[in-house]
Formats: sequence, C-alpha cells, structure tokens
Amino acid sequence: MRISPLSDVLGAEITDLDLTRPIKKPDENLIKQALLDHHVIVIRDQRLTPVEQVQFSNRFGTLEVPANIQHTTQESEHVMILSNEIRPDGTAVGVVDGGDFWHSDSSHIRVPSKITILQSVKNPVRGGDTEFCNMQAVYRALPDELKQQIDGKYGIHHVSKVRNKRVTISPDRPGAKEFYQKQSNERPEVIQPLVLKHPETGRKALYCSPRFTVGIVGMKDDEADPILDQLFSYITDKKRPYHYRHKYKNNDLVLWDNRSLCHRAVGGYGLPDIRRMHRTVIGGDAPYSSAAA
Ligand code: OGA
Ligand code: MN
Repeated sequence: MRISPLSDVLGAEITDLDLTRPIKKPDENLIKQALLDHHVIVIRDQRLTPVEQVQFSNRFGTLEVPANIQHTTQESEHVMILSNEIRPDGTAVGVVDGGDFWHSDSSHIRVPSKITILQSVKNPVRGGDTEFCNMQAVYRALPDELKQQIDGKYGIHHVSKVRNKRVTISPDRPGAKEFYQKQSNERPEVIQPLVLKHPETGRKALYCSPRFTVGIVGMKDDEADPILDQLFSYITDKKRPYHYRHKYKNNDLVLWDNRSLCHRAVGGYGLPDIRRMHRTVIGGDAPYSSAAA
C-alpha cells in the first residue's frame, strides 16, 4: 500500500490496496492515521459490494442508518445511494442533489457524523467533483481579533433551507420546498462550538458552515451576521487557498473527516450522464458540547 499527498493543504491517495481482502492491522492503523493527517483519503480502484463497504466502514465506528430509506441499497440499509438517475416511472434512484452548499455532515444534529465514505460507482463524463475546505487551516488563518470574538461561542445550526438566507432550494428535487417547510417547523435548532477541538488530535478547527449555521448563541442577527459572513468568506474564497477539489475516477473510495473540514458537491453534470455514489457514514461518539440549545 502506498500513501501520497494530493495537495499541499489536504487530501492523500492510497494505491496498491485491495479492500476486498483481509486488511492487516498495521495497514488499518496507517489508513486511520492518514485520515487524521490529511482529512480526505482517496483509496483508488475499489469495487466493494454494499456489504463489503459496510464491513470496511465498520472499522471506523458505528454506522448511521440513513433516514431516507427509499434511497438505500437492497443489499444493505446502511448504504445510501447518491444518484441523478430517474426511473421510467419518474422516481429517483438516489438522493439527487445532496450537498450543494458548503457544510460539514449532520452538524444540524446533536451528535454530528464523524466520517463519511463515498464509493464512486459511476462517474459522469463531465462534472461531479467534490470540493473540500480544511477548517483547521482556516482557523489558523483567522485574525486574532476574530478568533477572540468566536472563542467559547456557539453557532446555531438548522437543517431547513427555508430557515437560512444564505442557501437556495434546488429546483431539481420534486417537493423540496414543502419538504424544507415541514422540516423548519419540526426540527429543532442545535448548537455547536464555533471552534471545535478535534477529539483525537486536539487540533482546533472552525466549525460552522453556510449550509447549516444560521446564527450565534447570545447575539442578535445584526451582530452575528457580519461575523458569520466573515468566517464563511474563508470557505468561499475564490482563490481556494485552504481547499482541495476531488475529481473522481471510477472506483475511488473517498473518506473524509467531518470534524476538520467542510465540503460541497460541485455539480455540473446532467442526464443522460449519470453519477452514482454509494455512501456510508460513521456516527459521532458524543456531542461536541454539553451546553443545551
Ligand atoms: C455527502 C456530500 C458531496 C458529493 O455525501 O455528504 O456532501 O459530491 N456529497 O456528492
Ligand atoms: Mn455532505
């Protein structure tokens, strides 16, 4: 097995490894360490069945069961399908437009996702990249004054797009407006520390995103918004100084650490060009804060 960096700021690829064969403990430890060091790991040339993907994913912790059961694989309820494919009867094979705004997975629930794993099953000819932003690098780059402003503060996170003026609802998903409207009434706000100390490495990261963070605890919007806008400007910086953009090859198995980065689906593909990913998610171990919302 060989590990080599994919960029100066984050990401590494692993080649010469076949995950359908038993993994040696030292190799497993190297993969885990590489994920902590590089935040995104791309293991090339993997053709895992859903069951094999689940077995590999289980090495990192307890898997989340996707809420969206109509988009899981037949072989395993733990594997969610991301796909733009539409069946002849008009139903979608998978989640069509997931992750189109910068986010860290499930920061809108009390115990957010720890690690997300995508296997690229079918790659579109054009588009379909995922962009990642190293939030530890962003934190290090913040001016001291801004660091002091957010130190010890909590962001308010919410899942519904109708609660968030920084995002828009994609027209491609049928019933999306009603879906988000319902969520906005039913799902609670969750608070997360704006500065997250990584539970395993102790390194600090900025922990908030344009997709899910809609306020700061104890601040009115007119005070919180300029701070959030300034923080988000590091993520959306057009020069992409803290970023790595992954262009998938077929059979890439990509793992990322939601505690140290945020990411977004770039899009830019469309039918009849199909993109299909198999997604497993390792749940977090504990809330990042004991404070109540
Ligand atoms: C996700 C996600 C991005 C992509 O699966 O959590 O944000 O490019 N995916 O599919
Ligand atoms: Mn995501």
